[in-house]
Amino acid sequence: MSPQHSLPEHDPTDPVESAVITRLVRNWGQRATVKKPEPDLDELFDRDKRDYPNELLPFADHDRFLGLTDDQQDQLRAWAWIAFNKNVMDIEQYVVNPGFDLVAHDGLDTGLGDTFALAVHQAMVDEQYHTLMHLNASAVTRRQRGWALPNDALPDVMTLRRQREVAAADPDSRRKAISLFAFMTVAEVSISSYLDLISENDVIQPINRATVRLHNRDEYCHSSIADEIAGIVYDTLRPDERRHFLDGLVHAMNAFSSNDYSTWRTIVELMELEGGHAMIDDAEHDTSHSKLVQDFSGIHKLCRNLGVAEEMSFQWT
Ligand SMILES: [Fe+2]
Ligand SMILES: [Fe+2]
Repeated sequence: MSPQHSLPEHDPTDPVESAVITRLVRNWGQRATVKKPEPDLDELFDRDKRDYPNELLPFADHDRFLGLTDDQQDQLRAWAWIAFNKNVMDIEQYVVNPGFDLVAHDGLDTGLGDTFALAVHQAMVDEQYHTLMHLNASAVTRRQRGWALPNDALPDVMTLRRQREVAAADPDSRRKAISLFAFMTVAEVSISSYLDLISENDVIQPINRATVRLHNRDEYCHSSIADEIAGIVYDTLRPDERRHFLDGLVHAMNAFSSNDYSTWRTIVELMELEGGHAMIDDAEHDTSHSKLVQDFSGIHKLCRNLGVAEEMSFQWT
């Protein structure tokens, strides 16, 4: 546990600072992807590579999928990549940045000092740039493959739908803010594992891997920032608010790890794929595919440091 996590009493006149955050704020200009030259995506595009790994398709071993033409399989993988990018963009814009904005204005009255405001403003710039990177990655896929694959045909990502449900269920604005904060914390500490699904797979389109690799470089720092802030904020919450925050973490982890079958249903409908719905239904009922992201080790560590991991209703492994 860092010294900040164990502050005995919170003094609102004495702003909290952190050595970790101070170091990350200082080196942002050298390390941030937004400060680096952009790769030429069209040049890097390899039409013979897959846009998305079969291993991540929850129906990859289904007879219906195996019986599709190469072109249909390619279209499904291209759609999967478009959906992956849309998920990342939805999370950045509607889950992460609202949570960071709350911290930027010390919305939970934690007494965070200016360095925290700088750190989250930098991180929000990063997130805006990541959104642009994934927007560009989808655009180049559409251009190179010649398929429309429109983002707005897809449903909002499940993490965002759940975040909205959880926030809407609570009339109290402070509790709503704590829910937003919990969802941001899970997204920021766990998004690396989601990005790694693509970056570590070498049969995949090099620009897709480059996009997530560049993105992930920033996220390693964001996860330290979010972890540090979560510990400090948690210390200043009342016991009932702490419980609410921990429940929010569990809601967010459950949403974040799920394979989103509503997206798949929309995709097979858009492709007018015969037998598509039955294929998705079968995949949904096959529990070996139920989890997409498995790695919540960062949140587990945070909760262990807070001394609460054992009392949370979450299966950690
Ligand atoms: Fe990001
Ligand atoms: Fe981030």
